[in-house]
Amino acid sequence: WCQQHGIAFWMAGEPDASTVHFPSLVERGPLRVAVDTQGLAPTVSRWLRQRIEQVLPDGLGAVLRLTQKRRHSIDERLPTPHQRRSFWYRLLEGQSVHRAALDSEDRIASDMDEILQSCAIHAPQGQVFLVGAGPGDPDLLTVKALRLLGQADVVLYDRLVAQPILDLVRSDAECIHVGKARANHSVPQEMINQMLVDYAKSGKTVVRLKGGDPFIFGRGGEEIETLAENGVGFQVVPGITAASGCAAYAGIPLTHRQYAQSVRFVTGHLKNNTANLPWHELIHEEQTLVFYMGLVGLPIICRELMAHGMRADMPVALVSKGTTPEQNTVTGTLADITERVGEAGVCPPTLVIVGEVVTLRDRLNWL
Ligand SMILES: C[S@@+](CC[C@H](N)C(=O)[O-])C[C@H]1O[C@@H](n2cnc3c(N)ncnc32)[C@H](O)[C@@H]1O
Repeated sequence: WCQQHGIAFWMAGEPDASTVHFPSLVERGPLRVAVDTQGLAPTVSRWLRQRIEQVLPDGLGAVLRLTQKRRHSIDERLPTPHQRRSFWYRLLEGQSVHRAALDSEDRIASDMDEILQSCAIHAPQGQVFLVGAGPGDPDLLTVKALRLLGQADVVLYDRLVAQPILDLVRSDAECIHVGKARANHSVPQEMINQMLVDYAKSGKTVVRLKGGDPFIFGRGGEEIETLAENGVGFQVVPGITAASGCAAYAGIPLTHRQYAQSVRFVTGHLKNNTANLPWHELIHEEQTLVFYMGLVGLPIICRELMAHGMRADMPVALVSKGTTPEQNTVTGTLADITERVGEAGVCPPTLVIVGEVVTLRDRLNWL
């Protein structure tokens, strides 16, 4: 009937017979993103729509509506493409777009004016995003980290950042490897700090990409201190730290009501190979210890824990290259883990987990 009368129609599950298709829509105010597989794969449309929903902040609609009203004044005050680009990135990456869904229009307008003002004055200053890249699996990046990798002009990254994550960086961004192997900083820390300041002051959006979480054994605090001293704007984007990633992928819950009420992250980087940790504080019933950078010092760590009263048959796991396709987990006890690790020939980076929770791996290993 529809055909005979020239009326467009859609039939469920019959893409070829239908004359119209309805795309999945994601809307944020005036912004509309349509996903259409011409009726062939509605599940793919839904999957993609969900991904787009996650990436677009709820407040984006309110922000866009306001910029629509002020378009002429924005163009007038920001005559160069560079200024306009900076304005948009700063607006979209700032806090206001995330708050905007709840904020009044006056509040959004005042945030926008502030950014407009700073971009209108001579060369606008860039920003630094200190971003945690997680332990290796790119699927463990946060949504915010992923978005920033697509926007950065410059990315300064550490050795531990996995290649599949670097592949997500905007293709024309400048990517600089600033090293950091054990005791081998390819670029000294002070120079990294200064580079961040210089790039930001030249108006660039800079991502400082660090393995795991930037605030856990990552010297992230030092880097942003220099930025604060130099009046450079920054944001910190947390990442999944190696302890969480490795424990999850090795099937070892770090706390468990029956086995451990607390967990302690400890550096295993022993200065001059001496046992310089407060060992007596580490010996606690029902506590899990996680040693970062503990491969070289493993024999000393085991020896000192036993010397300070931990039982020799305390379970230990060493996770190498956690959350990557090359993950390898060796288990044993304080008494024999060093020998087992030697036999297994594991590669760094590695994480050492000490505690009763390690025994749960026998039942919970899922990888
Ligand atoms: C300088 S620390 C940086 C830690 C990082 N900021 C974090 O939150 O995971 C480097 C140490 O983290 C641990 N590590 C990082 N990624 C790892 C991985 N994928 N597997 C095992 N250990 C890892 C290792 O102990 C490595 O020596």
